[in-house]
Amino acid sequence: MLDRLYGASRGRGARAPDGRGHGVEDGESVPGRFARAYYESGETTWKDTTWLGVQTLKCPLDLWIYQELIHAVRPDLIVETGSWRGGSAHFMACICELLGRGDVVSIDIEPDASRPAHARVRYVVGPSTAPETVDLVRGLSAGKGAVMVVLDSDHRKAHVIEEMRAYGGLVTVGSYLIVEDTCINGHPVEGGFGPGPMEAVEEFLGEDPRFEVDRRWEKFMMTFNPRGFLKRTG
Ligand SMILES: C[S@@+](CC[C@H](N)C(=O)[O-])C[C@H]1O[C@@H](n2cnc3c(N)ncnc32)[C@H](O)[C@@H]1O
Repeated sequence: MLDRLYGASRGRGARAPDGRGHGVEDGESVPGRFARAYYESGETTWKDTTWLGVQTLKCPLDLWIYQELIHAVRPDLIVETGSWRGGSAHFMACICELLGRGDVVSIDIEPDASRPAHARVRYVVGPSTAPETVDLVRGLSAGKGAVMVVLDSDHRKAHVIEEMRAYGGLVTVGSYLIVEDTCINGHPVEGGFGPGPMEAVEEFLGEDPRFEVDRRWEKFMMTFNPRGFLKRTG
C-alpha cells in the first residue's frame, strides 16, 4: 500500500541486501553529505535539540531509533555513560515509563544539579571507567532480565574501548551495546578528531565475538552511530 503511495524505496538510499548500511559514513554519498551539513550546523541542529525542554545531544532520528529499540528489547536497565544535561537519560526514562518497565542509570564525571529528576533515572557522578563506578553499575544490573548499554562520554578510542570492555559484558543476549558518535574522525564528520568510537568498535569486534553490528538500526540513513548498534548474539 505505501509502495503505491510513495513508490518502493529502491534508490541509492535503500539498504543493501547484504545488510550493509546506507553509507552515511561515506562523506560523498547523499546521506554522508547530509550528515556533514547537519553536524557542522551543530549550534542550530543537534546542539539545539531538546527533550521536554532539556538539551539532548542527539540526532532526532537516532532518538526515534532508541524508542524503537527500547520497545523491542524492553530493557529492565539501561546504562548510559555521558549524561551531559540529562536529556537522553530523561528521554529513555520517559519511554520506559510509557512501557511500564525499565530504569536508567546515567554516569557522568561532572556533577550537574540541574539534570531533570525522574523516578526511573539514577544519576551517578564519577569517571565511567573507575572501578568503583563499574562495580556500582554491575551491582545494579545483577539479576536484571534485559540490560542495554549506551556509551556517550569521552569519545576518544582508548576511553571508548575501555568502556566497551567494562560494560559490554552487562549487555544481555538479544540486547544492544550502542556506541555513540562513531561518525566522528571522518565517518563522515570531524575528520581531524583522531581515533574515536568507530575505531574502538572495530577493535572490540575483533576481540569479542559475542557482538555483531546490526545495521537495521541505521535504516533512516542519517545516524550519528554508523556501525554503532552492536547486538549481543552469544
Ligand atoms: C556527549 S556528552 C553526553 C550527551 C548526552 N548523552 C546526551 O545525549 O545529551 C558527553 C558527557 O560525557 C561526560 N564525560 C566525559 N568524560 C567522562 C568520563 N571519563 N566518565 C564519565 N563521563 C564523562 C562529559 O562530562 C559530558 O557530559
